[in-house]
Amino acid sequence: DRGGLADRFGRTATDLRVSLTDRCNLRCTYCMPAEGLAWLPRDEVLTDAEVVRLIRIAVERLGITEVRFTGGEPLIRPGLVDIVSAAAALDPRPGLSLTTNGIGLDRLARPLREAGLDRVNVSLDTLDRGRFTELTRRDRLPDVLAGLAAAAAAGLRPVKINAVLIRGVNDADAVDLLRFALAGGYELRFIEQMPLDAQHAWQRASMVTADEILADLRTAFTLRPDPAHRGGAPAETWLVDGHSARVGVIGTVTRPFCGDCDRTRLTADGQVRACLFATEESDLRTALRAGATDAELADRWRAAMWGKKAGHGIDDPAFLQPVRPMSAIGG
Ligand code: GTP
Ligand code: 5AD
Ligand code: SF4
Repeated sequence: DRGGLADRFGRTATDLRVSLTDRCNLRCTYCMPAEGLAWLPRDEVLTDAEVVRLIRIAVERLGITEVRFTGGEPLIRPGLVDIVSAAAALDPRPGLSLTTNGIGLDRLARPLREAGLDRVNVSLDTLDRGRFTELTRRDRLPDVLAGLAAAAAAGLRPVKINAVLIRGVNDADAVDLLRFALAGGYELRFIEQMPLDAQHAWQRASMVTADEILADLRTAFTLRPDPAHRGGAPAETWLVDGHSARVGVIGTVTRPFCGDCDRTRLTADGQVRACLFATEESDLRTALRAGATDAELADRWRAAMWGKKAGHGIDDPAFLQPVRPMSAIGG
């Protein structure tokens, strides 16, 4: 045993994000084009058994204590409930969470909870059905709202909501979203738009910043800094006066938190990414399918993390967006 997932900047990854598919049933304009993307060939996507083996190695040998399932949209992966069950049976048992667009969660929340899922984060950028349809190119707002309610009813707690604000589309929706979240007991987080879209259309000038979002929320609410320990969490949080729920901002661009990063990522096709913005990946799938032992796979994973950069480098004039888009990384 050669220890956990340390990098050369003194950080240690204890939080694993596993993308279970690059496919999605929405087409958010800030994420992918209307026609979708060239999806991964099926034979390159890890099988359920392969995914579970890599999670087991991460938990048993590499010190991973939290596992989050992402996509694309993870609820469309047929084996999801069985993968969650297998992860919940590991020793030590990791914390288990899921990031989803909410479609299908009305049906899956209970089976997922019974399989051992602890909590969910649901994407919801607006409560206006027209704007939802404009942003996601699908008229599915009622499905998302049903999914949110089902998640809370199934005891998946806390339920968090992720919102990306797009200037000129839903940037006036922040206060409404917070009212909705406070009423439902959801923890709302606003995310600064990041240069990870498949179209490479991101522009700093059109991004709604953390400062702008907070100023807007303060027109309607009194926010106080949250005394809770942030740890490696991307979200900076505030307490909302008169309410028990908190609100957060994930300010990757204007308030970077890379120095505290505790994450490692596995793509649906079995590549380790040391960072959301990594431009290099480490191929575990080929080694796994060639018969590598658990110890060998663990060593490859450690080596991948040793190559992790200090930060995302968005402010660097030479910044290059990763080739793999957000939807194939899992956020
Ligand atoms: P919690 O464990 O509930 O705090 O989850 P989370 O907020 O880390 O995960 P979620 O999948 O809900 O992601 C919310 C946003 O944070 C997405 O836009 C992610 O891309 C972003 N995010 C997650 N991890 C990282 C990270 O390591 N770096 C950066 N810059 N953003 C991240
Ligand atoms: N920048 C910031 N957040 C994004 N998401 C998708 N694409 C981007 C982007 N370019 C959000 C989704 C989801 C979360 C996982 O990431 O809306 O809430
Ligand atoms: Fe939207 Fe997420 Fe699907 Fe991208 S992966 S289209 S952000 S729901």
